[in-house]
Amino acid sequence: MNRTSTIWGWLAAGTLTIFACVAIVAAQTAKPDAPATAKAAKAAAKPAATKPSPAIAKGSNSPASLAFRSSVDTPPAGWKGPVFKLSRDYPKTAPKCDAPWLKRKVNFNSSDPQWKDWEGYVQDIIDYVKAGQDPNLATQWNIAVGGQTRWYHVPWMAFDGERGREFVHGLTNELATKLSVFMPTEGRPSGKHDLQGDAPINGVNPLYETWSIGMYNPCGAHALGQVFPANGEPATYTQGGKMFAKGLPFPEGTVVIKLLNTTADGNAVPYMKGSTNWQANGHVQLSPTDYSTCDRRVRDVHLVQIDLAVVDERSPTRWVYSTLSYDGTHPGATIWDRLRPLGAQWGSDPGSFPAVPQDKSQPLRETVLAPVNIPEHYGCQKRLAGVVDQANSSCVSCHMGAYAAPTPNLNLQAVNIPPIFNFCEMCTTFNEGNKQYFSNYKYPATFPGDGYTTAIPLDSSLQLAVAFAQYAVYKNPTALPRTCPDAGAPPSGTR
Ligand code: HEC
Repeated sequence: MNRTSTIWGWLAAGTLTIFACVAIVAAQTAKPDAPATAKAAKAAAKPAATKPSPAIAKGSNSPASLAFRSSVDTPPAGWKGPVFKLSRDYPKTAPKCDAPWLKRKVNFNSSDPQWKDWEGYVQDIIDYVKAGQDPNLATQWNIAVGGQTRWYHVPWMAFDGERGREFVHGLTNELATKLSVFMPTEGRPSGKHDLQGDAPINGVNPLYETWSIGMYNPCGAHALGQVFPANGEPATYTQGGKMFAKGLPFPEGTVVIKLLNTTADGNAVPYMKGSTNWQANGHVQLSPTDYSTCDRRVRDVHLVQIDLAVVDERSPTRWVYSTLSYDGTHPGATIWDRLRPLGAQWGSDPGSFPAVPQDKSQPLRETVLAPVNIPEHYGCQKRLAGVVDQANSSCVSCHMGAYAAPTPNLNLQAVNIPPIFNFCEMCTTFNEGNKQYFSNYKYPATFPGDGYTTAIPLDSSLQLAVAFAQYAVYKNPTALPRTCPDAGAPPSGTR
């Protein structure tokens, strides 16, 4: 199934899935609540005929147990390795979070920002996230630092049987389409991706899967716990006729990280040498380019990228993004030493192509790139993106599109939430879609244009967008075909 227009398949995309790119024109004219409402979904829903899935234990189909369960799968008998436990005791009161980077005198408005001016800012964040972790991240990511819980996970990500959290490290699969097959000129999209400089196997360029996990520090988690309280249902309120999520926006002091692991090892890709060897219950690999959708098997994955995001009110989007790329060719003693920052980004550069025509384009001033010598691909027109990110996007432009459809509607990209992947001519020409995508706005603004004015703003958290999307599938269980039989949704009629 080619679900190229979904948030890596997490957000339902209905019939749009047959296109390799999402028609942005349709997005601008579509009424946000036309084809995708709960009402339409219910009308399409058939009375419950399915038998309850044996994979779902009795009593486990309440929103709370599905939202806060640790994984979609369970360890095989005799498993001796780590077993992931969701960190979800979100702080009830606003914690104090040490955020020295906020005191750095960086200039968000410079017309020619330099890496040397931002290096210290990014290093402060690295020092914060590195604290309490093993220098080689040998077996796992430590949740507690100095006896206190430092890292928390997002609920509802162990719901989808195809991509949901696996039991070893709580990793989720980022993409299960052969995107690079459809778009060979697009470089290396996340998920099942081609890596530059890898070794062909029998003349075929292999495709790799990406398995990731995101985490919020206590300041971010305080907000998470308000968005998803103990009952597992999103807490929303209405103001001025628009729905919002409680607890947002994230406060200053918030730090978010994401560990991205690839199935490519040091033999396949030179710069992956000496990376971590974690295990993950990934998809069974059928050939160098093909993976099973639903069957899983424990296999090795290797850290390729660590994404960082912090709230900084000085930023035109209130966020600063950075990413560390693993570079096995760098002479550092530990894995942390070989994780190199690629740069920082705090806006989408609305003054640069393709947000403006080529002849009006100014040099980038909201991305600053660090000098690195690994085969690297950047985002759109050299805006910041990571090694396994989409080359036609960028951290900030993709993340600012984090919205949810008013609950409990299905979340449909380019219908009731903005498209963040693969809209037509993304990054290639100056047009309205690119102008909107590469513009700056911040919470609680709606997405630019008038296409998605009722969407709930999620302050750039795409994991929250996934959580809302999964909750909507839970509420509309028969509106979509379930990809895998063991998916988290209880069959309709069982609750
Ligand atoms: C084309 C879209 C896209 C691009 C580009 C992208 N991301 Fe993400 N990112 C996502 C999605 C979708 C998620 C949530 C799903 C997941 O974590 O598996 C996510 C999750 C994250 C998270 C966890 C918190 C959250 O917002 O959910 C962080 C931190 C993050 N990304 C940072 C970055 C950084 C840094 C870059 C650039 C180097 C980047 N991202 C580029 C789509 C993107």
